[in-house]
Amino acid sequence: MDKIVIIDFGSQLAHLIADRIRRLGVYSEIRSTDIPASDLKQYKGIIISGGPASVNDPKSPQLDRTIYEIGIPILGICYGHQYTMRALGGRVAKGVVGEYGLTQFTVTKNIGVFKHLEKKSYQVYASHFDTVEKVPEGFEVVGETRDDKMSATANELRKIYTVQFHPEVAHTECGMKILDTFIEITGSKRDWSIEKFISEEVASINKKVDSKKVFMLVSGGVDSTVAYALLAKALGEDRVYAMYVDTGFMRKNETAQIKKSLEKIGIKNLHIEHAEKEFFSALKGIYEPEQKRKIIGDKFLEIQRNVAQKLNLNPDEWLLGQGTIYPDTIESGGTRNADKIKTHHNRVPEIEEMIRQGKIIEPIKELYKDEVRELGAQLGLPEEMVNRHPFPGPGLAVRCLCAEKEDGKYEKLPNGHLLPIKSVGVQGDERTYRHPFVLDSAHDWNKLRTISPSITNTDSRINRVLVEISGVKIEKVSITQSYLTPERIAKLQEADALVMDAIKDEKSVWQCPTVLIPLSVNAEGQESIVIRPVSSQEAMTANFTELPWEKVEKLAKDLMKIHGISAVFYDITNKPPATIEWE
Ligand code: XMP
Repeated sequence: MDKIVIIDFGSQLAHLIADRIRRLGVYSEIRSTDIPASDLKQYKGIIISGGPASVNDPKSPQLDRTIYEIGIPILGICYGHQYTMRALGGRVAKGVVGEYGLTQFTVTKNIGVFKHLEKKSYQVYASHFDTVEKVPEGFEVVGETRDDKMSATANELRKIYTVQFHPEVAHTECGMKILDTFIEITGSKRDWSIEKFISEEVASINKKVDSKKVFMLVSGGVDSTVAYALLAKALGEDRVYAMYVDTGFMRKNETAQIKKSLEKIGIKNLHIEHAEKEFFSALKGIYEPEQKRKIIGDKFLEIQRNVAQKLNLNPDEWLLGQGTIYPDTIESGGTRNADKIKTHHNRVPEIEEMIRQGKIIEPIKELYKDEVRELGAQLGLPEEMVNRHPFPGPGLAVRCLCAEKEDGKYEKLPNGHLLPIKSVGVQGDERTYRHPFVLDSAHDWNKLRTISPSITNTDSRINRVLVEISGVKIEKVSITQSYLTPERIAKLQEADALVMDAIKDEKSVWQCPTVLIPLSVNAEGQESIVIRPVSSQEAMTANFTELPWEKVEKLAKDLMKIHGISAVFYDITNKPPATIEWE
């Protein structure tokens, strides 16, 4: 079987590369940086991924450099581009501005992986601080961007190609073509498919579960439902027991709807556990986002254990099933060199320990969202279920920001203000916890589209850009001390229901978190709402969606009618530099 190997330097995107290669029909494998060059000889091509380190840092991860001598085609991406340049005698320097997000790339020579590109210029996705300043002997510069004059190189003789941007990301227009051409250069046979995945996974589930049964946590979301359906296909419905926990952080009326639709797809053994009170009391007085996630993850497990006990499930006869998909593992710092962006509820330490003991089964953990949807459709799940927007495991708890006091100052900058709160973002593959910036600007997408990245690319205090959409003129702001309470969640549920209804026909929206933030505008003790419609394909990167202004302004007016809401914002940041969720 022909395979491409991806050497993982800790990129959030290494598995996305693997996914793309599979989409192009070729088996792919991810290996860490300590793989010896002699082991690489079995592969048809080598892709060296991005990563959070800087090549000039003496502690940065290293490869066995003889890989450049074995004669297998190599594609270096982002950090892999810089690493290759430096390893072969080029020079990499700290960039002046860095590039985070969309940028325009110009092809200067149509050779190597660019040989089938027809246009001169393409939109690409980049996320880096450092840039290549000198290429090694034998290499040619084959493309550039405004801020990076050596953003792609080629050595046709040695079949080594490098790009600073990310071809694996959906928003890189020419990305699939580049990867496809790389596969062509490697001469690999294309024989991977989702049908093949199903038959291989059904066999592997049976082998792992053996004569046991599976106790599966379902949330009604795409991932856990598809994982359930695959387990049920492999083992039969009688051997998979589904449990749904109502945490209190679900959408308005969601539990009842989910019960209906899970029963519709034939989940017979469904247990619903009401645990709202327990979750709220465990989270009393907590405001730090990672702490919130950890408490929720632990509580989930405690409840699942209690229910298992109540139901008399002998741990020797049962495995715990989870609908984990690949991005969950990566963002929790799951591969060797990856930075930890956030802890997903299915990757808390106790679960990690159970994984080590072989007590967990996660049949779709290697897949990305779009593959999970395709798999769901192949397994016969109804379209409205397969195409639901993703929703985080910890639910609205993630989207309800808490604060004790001001975090920084409300500060005037040219064309807007820095807000005295912080939220999580991801820049250059690292987790950031930085301020949002509210832009004073007209509601004009043409302007906003370019201003937004220029702000996050130049001011390192900022990882998000917002515009106010209800017409409130901001004069002063303050932070309202707030934690997770049933009242705040009820308020967020109201807002979320209005937003979901307003965007239900917007096909370009892939997901739309509605966020409650403890920011009081022109008043004391109030809060604000942020809407975050994004377009994405696999959640690793996303663009903010440009909804029609008329619709947005009407929605904002409706949201302002919710008790205690003092302003409504629209998040106009891509991922990176921001994440999709706010927390
Ligand atoms: P971010 O915010 O990192 O989110 O851009 C990427 C995708 O992951 C979803 N998400 C989660 N899904 N458990 C999940 O099952 C979680 O704890 C979790 N946190 C974020 C998020 O909604 C988005 O689609």
